[in-house]
Amino acid sequence: MVKAVDGVSFELGKGEAISLVGESGSGKTTLAKTILRLYEPTDGTLIFNGKDITHLNAKNLMWYRKTVQLVQQDPFGSLPYFLTIREILEEPLRIHKIGDERSRDELVYKALENVRLLPAEDFLPKYPHMISGGQAQRVAIARALILQPELIVADEPVSMLDASVRVEILMLLRELQENRKISFIYVTHDLSTSRYFSDKIFIMYAGHIVEKAATLEILREPLHPYTIALFEAIPDPDPSNVRRRRKTPVGEPPSLLDPPLGCRFHPRCPHAKDICRKKEPPEVEVSKLHTVKCWLFAQEDSEGGA
Ligand SMILES: Nc1ncnc2c1ncn2[C@@H]1O[C@H](COP(=O)(O)OP(=O)(O)OP(=O)(O)O)[C@@H](O)[C@H]1O
Ligand code: SF4
Ligand SMILES: [Mg+2]
Repeated sequence: MVKAVDGVSFELGKGEAISLVGESGSGKTTLAKTILRLYEPTDGTLIFNGKDITHLNAKNLMWYRKTVQLVQQDPFGSLPYFLTIREILEEPLRIHKIGDERSRDELVYKALENVRLLPAEDFLPKYPHMISGGQAQRVAIARALILQPELIVADEPVSMLDASVRVEILMLLRELQENRKISFIYVTHDLSTSRYFSDKIFIMYAGHIVEKAATLEILREPLHPYTIALFEAIPDPDPSNVRRRRKTPVGEPPSLLDPPLGCRFHPRCPHAKDICRKKEPPEVEVSKLHTVKCWLFAQEDSEGGA
């Protein structure tokens, strides 16, 4: 039994953008798919707009499917190769019985304009393989936006794109999110992009969220040793900066089949002490909106969470 996400709890405000950051295998996609109710949680509760959606069945989830959307890592894998871009963008409108043929056409046209695929009529008859990776991800974003969702989850949306278009796509997502007041979860292993993108950053390690804070706060004062290690691993292009050389955390993330006892980061942590190897640290609120799950910030007689 793998517990890919364990004891995670947070609130996402309306129109708020958060980044979920962590190494490969830390449970980001599992958490994202659980939030989207593509997975049914084995424990815990999911509340959306005051409604408990934890165990709703497919029929009762139709409204939720319309309200939340996913943008995936691989645009070519997520767009059906046998449909034209017009058909891809029309499909969600048909499924949710929105508009007639004419009004759907207008919405499709507008959706392409919104993601700056212009002139739209050039793109409508094309199949995904006829456009570039960056353009395909724009189509995937247009498809996610066409139902006017309240929440978008973007799972590594730029990691398969050329470096030259990554910033463009991220800026486009941020602009659309801010203008439309959509709540946004940006899933990434790349702390350096998340800092430009989100109001808050949540750091995940081995199925736990180990630090949560407003972006400016975590930039100013990262507290968890794993967060600090992630910051130290970001390369700095400025040759005059002595911190330019990357320092990656030693060791590998643990197997979730048999996670370490106590703090899951202890085998890699330079500050590990006795209690870290025995008891899971509790989540401690160090200031408003800044929590950290680490014994350096907790009383040793306090309860470690599960
Ligand atoms: N269906 C499954 N069966 C068994 N193990 C799984 C399953 N899905 C995920 N896992 C395991 O759960 C852990 C978390 O996986 P997840 O895909 O959520 O990580 P991630 O943070 O998204 O990683 P990446 O950055 O590589 O996408 C991994 O150890 C993975 O091997
Ligand atoms: S709880 Fe202990 S091992 Fe875990 S991060 Fe904090 S100091 Fe390091
Ligand atoms: Mg993933």
